[in-house]
Amino acid sequence: MKPAEMKAAETLANDTRRAQLIEIDRRLLWHPFTQASEWNSYDPLVIERGAGFHLYDIDGRRYLDGVSSLWCNVHGHGHPAVTAAIHEQADRLAHSTMLGLSHEPAIELASRLVEITPEPLTRVFYSDSGSTAVEVALRIAFQYQRQSGRPERTRFITMLGAYHGDTIGSVSLGFSEPFHTGYEPITFPTLKFAPPFLCEPISGRGACDDASLERAGAHSLAQLSELLERDGASVAAVFIEPLVQGAAGIWPQPASFVAGVRELCDRHDVLLVCDEVATGFARTGTMFAVEQSAVSPDIMCLAKGLTAGYLPLAATLTSERVFAAFNGSYSEYKTLFHGHTYGGNPLGCAAAIANLQVFADENTLEAAARNGARFAALLQEHIAPLAHVGPVRVKGLMCGFDILADPATGTWFPTDQRRAHHATLAARESGVIIRPLGDTMVLMPAPAMPADLLEELVTVTAQAVAQASQA
Ligand SMILES: Cc1ncc(COP(=O)(O)O)c(C=O)c1O
Repeated sequence: MKPAEMKAAETLANDTRRAQLIEIDRRLLWHPFTQASEWNSYDPLVIERGAGFHLYDIDGRRYLDGVSSLWCNVHGHGHPAVTAAIHEQADRLAHSTMLGLSHEPAIELASRLVEITPEPLTRVFYSDSGSTAVEVALRIAFQYQRQSGRPERTRFITMLGAYHGDTIGSVSLGFSEPFHTGYEPITFPTLKFAPPFLCEPISGRGACDDASLERAGAHSLAQLSELLERDGASVAAVFIEPLVQGAAGIWPQPASFVAGVRELCDRHDVLLVCDEVATGFARTGTMFAVEQSAVSPDIMCLAKGLTAGYLPLAATLTSERVFAAFNGSYSEYKTLFHGHTYGGNPLGCAAAIANLQVFADENTLEAAARNGARFAALLQEHIAPLAHVGPVRVKGLMCGFDILADPATGTWFPTDQRRAHHATLAARESGVIIRPLGDTMVLMPAPAMPADLLEELVTVTAQAVAQASQA
């Protein structure tokens, strides 16, 4: 066969393979957070491999990973140190249980996590996703109060717009109209207060205006204070996503807000749970978001970037004071009767240890701070001036902005027009993968993504949003 004929045969074989895979996908798969009728209306991408900050589909087309493969990836795909650690661990032990046994990667990772998280966090409970990390925190907080002589403290305070995961406990803590409405019969109620973002109209081109954010933070704290004055005696814990509420649409908080929540929890002797599933591992520019407020939570939830985005692993860290309430003889039944089969999986722990080593070896925190500043400048230059974009919300490498029919009045486009979805498809045509939340566009580059790729991400997104909002 001549080279041209070989190429044609290869293309044909690939076309057939792609068509077959898509046909089976459409017939058998149920994709998360995806309306099947929409999924069936365009050719989906079938991803085959990842290298650096790019993903490649089965035709070998390259795409920039603009959302860190759902807010997880930190140093890029196929990082040799992380993949080598996983391979080496797989050769030794792929899985063993944490129920009644231990293993070295779990032990080593626990000591590293205790070292890098705020001071009073000394205990590590492993699970396998952000939702389970929150579920574990929920159960610990509830049982802690009961075993500390305060059985009446059974309620939880959360923020409007909160998202803590998709298990029923974490759904109960969350509040998002499209995600959670209708589940009231099978969830438990929580006490809710408005986060800063809902307390004051926040303007600003390119970034939210700091002064209005500070004022909004104070209003939100006043609401929390009122709630605790009224109901604090029945509250076990306050749950927050510190510094940025992610799935709400990337809603930032001032650092003073997180510190204020800590103060109020102390005043009312209520536990503070910080869900750093999305914000952890340099996503907001520091290793953990709470560092920017010098806050130490009583319980902290980690997942997503914990393994650099390579394997499912989660950790719920607690203070020694919390852990101590679970000690006693077996017959006192103070044990935390909770555990997930794959919690603390050795492969995940090995990936997480390698992740932290890469942070140290490659100065990822410095890179994240530098990249965050560049990212903010690019957003200011290319996204903020767009006619149909509201204030751009950015914190470190987390960005969200609304595509609006009329930014002056905050009027959305009709939902079924799916403007952000169409912008996503347009960006894909230009080799960039992004994923919105409704008509809120979200960009979440890996903290280590270099400046030239950040520029590509932002400029392609700007063109795609301009195109989708004009049509
Ligand atoms: C703050 C927060 N908590 C919990 C979760 C749930 O994590 P997972 O999808 O791994 O269960 C998420 C997911 O986006 C999140 O953003």
